[in-house]
Amino acid sequence: MEDVKNMSIATKAIHGGVSKEKGYGSLSMPIYQTSTFVFETAEQGGRRFAGEEEGYIYSRLGNPTISLLEEKIALLEGAEACVAFSSGMGAISSTLWTIAAAGKHIIADSTLYGCTFALLNHGMTRYGVEVSFIDTSDLDQVKNALKDNTCAVYLESPANPTLKIEDIAEVAKIAHDFNKDIKVVVDNTFATPVLQKPLELGADVVVHSATKYLNGHGDVIAGFACGTAEFMAEMRLFGLKDMTGAVLGPQEAFLIMRGLKTLALRVPKHVENAKKIVEYLVSEPKVKKVYYPGLEDHPGHDIAAKQMADFGGMVAFEVESREAGAALCNALELCTCAVSLGDAETLIEHPASMTHSPYTAEELAEAGIPEGLIRLAVGLEEADELIADFKQAFAKI
Ligand SMILES: Cc1ncc(COP(=O)(O)O)c(C=O)c1O
Repeated sequence: MEDVKNMSIATKAIHGGVSKEKGYGSLSMPIYQTSTFVFETAEQGGRRFAGEEEGYIYSRLGNPTISLLEEKIALLEGAEACVAFSSGMGAISSTLWTIAAAGKHIIADSTLYGCTFALLNHGMTRYGVEVSFIDTSDLDQVKNALKDNTCAVYLESPANPTLKIEDIAEVAKIAHDFNKDIKVVVDNTFATPVLQKPLELGADVVVHSATKYLNGHGDVIAGFACGTAEFMAEMRLFGLKDMTGAVLGPQEAFLIMRGLKTLALRVPKHVENAKKIVEYLVSEPKVKKVYYPGLEDHPGHDIAAKQMADFGGMVAFEVESREAGAALCNALELCTCAVSLGDAETLIEHPASMTHSPYTAEELAEAGIPEGLIRLAVGLEEADELIADFKQAFAKI
């Protein structure tokens, strides 16, 4: 359906992509639960491997259920193409292994999801990739960090867990003015394409943990990378096929397509609830500081207002100590103590001991992640009932 390209995000999420499945006229794309695809002849198999004939070969290289999902995500992000992965980390590691090589240099913001930080700082550096962690919201630091061997600039906006905002358009401009071949990679997990389109802002690659809002139901681990058709072909044939093998399963692809049907309804409700909870947290005496880009005193507020359609469903706040944070999590009854985000259930966690435990104490301080920081992934429950839960929990600590 060619016209879907010009339609709303809600319609794209439901109708995007061309289903080649015409067999029984099923409304939903069937789950092609198969590892391999049968060739009519050995010659046909040869032609498919040589790229001379379209068609599926083996599910690590492509699968009809997954292909349809990839088309939908590419449409949502405004990308030429998308590759699906078995996790967000599968997408991120496949992307970085496709871009980097020994002797190359990556610039990354120091505030990142803990395992992405570990991949860069404790992983890629073991294989001769140089990584500079900087504050990419300080554009002078970006300019000063660029080198002749820089191959990528990597950032999250809003960043996990502090909701730090990076000016994607400015960072991309600085990097590309220095060297047009540098890939600016943006993790768009927190914002989703409903709220932010990094490629339109000048980024080259968007990565996602689809485990979060894109699937939205807390029952799948998955990831995506989006970009040009040329780079995504390289990602598929090198990053995914040879380097990581982090292939999404067809069952998961089906579930994500089901979740996507309500993405454009879910995200605004997450945002609405987050704003109500932020309003309450700001007035709560036991909260030292609230981190939400929608607050006017958030350092990235103006940039977020410029590059995002709204401020998102993720909130962070600081309590007195690590112990107070743990006590709060334990006292909550409706909010669930769990990592992950973007689900119907409101999830609360303590980054320093959970999602960001790969950071050392010094690295946490450098990334601006306080010990008493709590991350809240606001869900789809009734906001007033969530606030009542917080009130009873704060009264106990
Ligand atoms: C911003 C961000 N990026 C990437 C990931 C990794 O995704 P996954 O857990 O699907 O591998 C996460 C997981 O929490 C995340 O929050």
